[in-house]
Amino acid sequence: MLAGVLPFPAEVARAVDEYCCSHSTALPPHLAEHKAWTAENYESPDRMSSSLQAQLFIFLASDRRAKRILDIGAFSGYSALAWKEGMKALGGEVWTLENDPVMVDACAKALSKYDAEGKIHLVSGPAIDTLRTFKGVVFDIIYFDAWKGEYIDYLNIVLELGLLSATGIILADDTICRGLVADDSDRNPNAIDSWKRPNLRRAVRAHVHAWNEYIIKDERVDVFLLPAFNGMSMIKLKTAA
Ligand SMILES: C[S@@+](CC[C@H](N)C(=O)[O-])C[C@H]1O[C@@H](n2cnc3c(N)ncnc32)[C@H](O)[C@@H]1O
Repeated sequence: MLAGVLPFPAEVARAVDEYCCSHSTALPPHLAEHKAWTAENYESPDRMSSSLQAQLFIFLASDRRAKRILDIGAFSGYSALAWKEGMKALGGEVWTLENDPVMVDACAKALSKYDAEGKIHLVSGPAIDTLRTFKGVVFDIIYFDAWKGEYIDYLNIVLELGLLSATGIILADDTICRGLVADDSDRNPNAIDSWKRPNLRRAVRAHVHAWNEYIIKDERVDVFLLPAFNGMSMIKLKTAA
C-alpha cells in the first residue's frame, strides 16, 4: 500500500502537477490571463491559488450546485473568478474579502475587466469584521485563504452565526504549511530554503499547527486534511445529512 503522501523530488512534483492540470477539465482562458497579469503587476503572485486548485474550485462549485460562496482572502481575485466560473450554470454569487488596499484595487480592476461585478462582491476591510456582518446569510462553500492566525476565529464566527449551509463545506488552504507542521527539522528543505523571513515561517507554522490541533478536537465538525497543494482541510458540520 502506498503512503498518503508520495516522496516525489521537486522536478517530478512539478511534472505531476502539470500532468494533473492537463488531465483535469481545462480552465477558461481568462483565468490564465488573470494569473499572468497579477504576476506582472503585483508582488508575491505565489499567494494566488494554483491552477490545479482553480480547476478543483470550478469542479466543486459546479458539483455541489453552489449558489453562494464566501472567499476569505481575495488577493487579486483569482480564486473568486474560479468560484464564479463553477457557478456559471446556476448563476450563483461570490463574496470575496480583502483588507490590503493595493489588492482591493487589483481585485476591483479584475472584476470590472471580466464583467464580474454583479456576481462577485468584493468587500474591503478586516475579514473578521466583515464576517460578522453576514449574520442571516448562508453559504454553500466557504474558503479560508487569508491570515492563518485568524482561521480559528473565522471558524468560530462561521459556526456561531450559522453561515455554513447544512450540507456546505469549508475549505481551509495552506494547512500543511510546506510540511513544516509535521517536520520543521533541517531535513525538510522548506525549513531552510524558501522563506526570506525565518520569524514569519515560525509564526505561520505555529498558527497553522494551532488551527490543525483546534479543528481536530472541535466536536461540531468533521475534518479531512488533504495533503495536496500546500495542504487543504475540508470541513463539514457533524450534523450534515
Ligand atoms: C493567499 S492570499 C489569497 C489568494 C486568493 N484566495 C487567490 O487564490 O488568488 C491572502 C489574501 O488575504 C488577505 N488578508 C490577509 N489577512 C486578511 C484579513 N484579516 N482580512 C482580509 N483580508 C486579509 C491578504 O491581503 C491577501 O491578499
